Amino acid sequence: MPRSAAPALRLGIAGLGTVGIGVVKIVQSHAALLEARTGRRIEIVAVSALDRSKNRDADLSHYAWEADPVALARRPDIDVFIEVMGGAEGPARAATLAAIAAGKDVVTANKALLAHHGQALAEAAEARGRVIRFEAAVAGGIPVIKALTEGLAGNAITRVMGVMNGTCNYILTRMDSAGLPYDVVFEEARQLGYLEADPNLDVGGIDAGHKLALLASIAFGTRVAFDAVELEGIGRISIDDIRRAGDMGYKIKLLGVAQMTGRGLEQRMTPCLVPAASPLGQLQGGTNMVVLEGDSVGQIVLRGPGAGMGPTASAVMADVADIARGTRLSTFGQPAKSLVAPIAAKASSPAPYYLRMELLDKPGALAKVATVFGEEGISISRMRQYDHPEALAPVLVVTHKTTGDAVAHAFARLPATGVVMGEPVAIRIEAV
Ligand code: HSE
Repeated sequence: MPRSAAPALRLGIAGLGTVGIGVVKIVQSHAALLEARTGRRIEIVAVSALDRSKNRDADLSHYAWEADPVALARRPDIDVFIEVMGGAEGPARAATLAAIAAGKDVVTANKALLAHHGQALAEAAEARGRVIRFEAAVAGGIPVIKALTEGLAGNAITRVMGVMNGTCNYILTRMDSAGLPYDVVFEEARQLGYLEADPNLDVGGIDAGHKLALLASIAFGTRVAFDAVELEGIGRISIDDIRRAGDMGYKIKLLGVAQMTGRGLEQRMTPCLVPAASPLGQLQGGTNMVVLEGDSVGQIVLRGPGAGMGPTASAVMADVADIARGTRLSTFGQPAKSLVAPIAAKASSPAPYYLRMELLDKPGALAKVATVFGEEGISISRMRQYDHPEALAPVLVVTHKTTGDAVAHAFARLPATGVVMGEPVAIRIEAV
């Protein structure tokens, strides 16, 4: 193939873990394809990582080595700084700032960095006419940033939802299919290498919360507000709840929901029940799914791998290809300075709830509980009591739409009934 007349696009890659090596492999194996599509050669000039001597299953011998990612970011012979080190602070932040100051475009897979510092970084980049792109930071190989920023640019976005942490979905679906408790499957996930170095990023919902906050910014034209995301991890989900929710026709997911309401921006990343037959309910294993809703398009569902070498590097290269083609988009879909500070909704919109409790099996017990619910304005839609060998009867309730506050008030009154034993469980049911 004849060489393109345009100058090559020169990359510097900071971080040679799974994602960095995935990028090296794509640049090496798809050089011709990338040049044909973008009109420019794409070449790696320099790389950086903590340990030079590590065996990395890729030929890096033609690239300059920088021990310090900040030095890599400042090299005059790179055009694009690819940050795939991770971490909200430290080297990732310092090197990204250095790259912007040195006039480089930035492609990053770092959701934590952008969730905490995205506004300042985007403003700094845009002030210098540079771009920061982050397709790989949200839902791995699913091109959700492109879908939202470009494909749905003509829509007012009404809601964004998603299962965006594959590790949590693996744990929940494995508990369900194998009938195993959380602790056992958590350990399995650790053995399989699915957990982040700090597992709380996964099972505490933080990683997925970062991703949701980034999508919400693009969807609603608001500054990233990670601190306003209501976060709850999957640690309290029991095999009992997975089974009982299944009996009532639901699956439990760590589900992110962002929507703009008259009361402000709602963002939550919490365990939710979704109908078992819905696309989200059927999502198995480590796969991700993002559901986007716009006023003109209606609902679209994107499903695919949310992590791993190939999928994440695929997303990095989508951003690199855009830069090579001259497509220059604002980080959050509109100039960073035009993003408004969102008002956080103080409480979530009303929804049905799944409630599980253990009742003393004696006359009038159910009536006492139903009275409390009635007095708190909670209307019961469905109820089921299970056969039980002991004196405690497992009781499940699906409510009509109510509020988290009403459920909390009712639960606070249950001990006084003298018939509810242990801690009752409440999980929101999301209409998907
Ligand atoms: N640990 C994440 C997941 C991938 O399990 O989906 C990186 O965000």
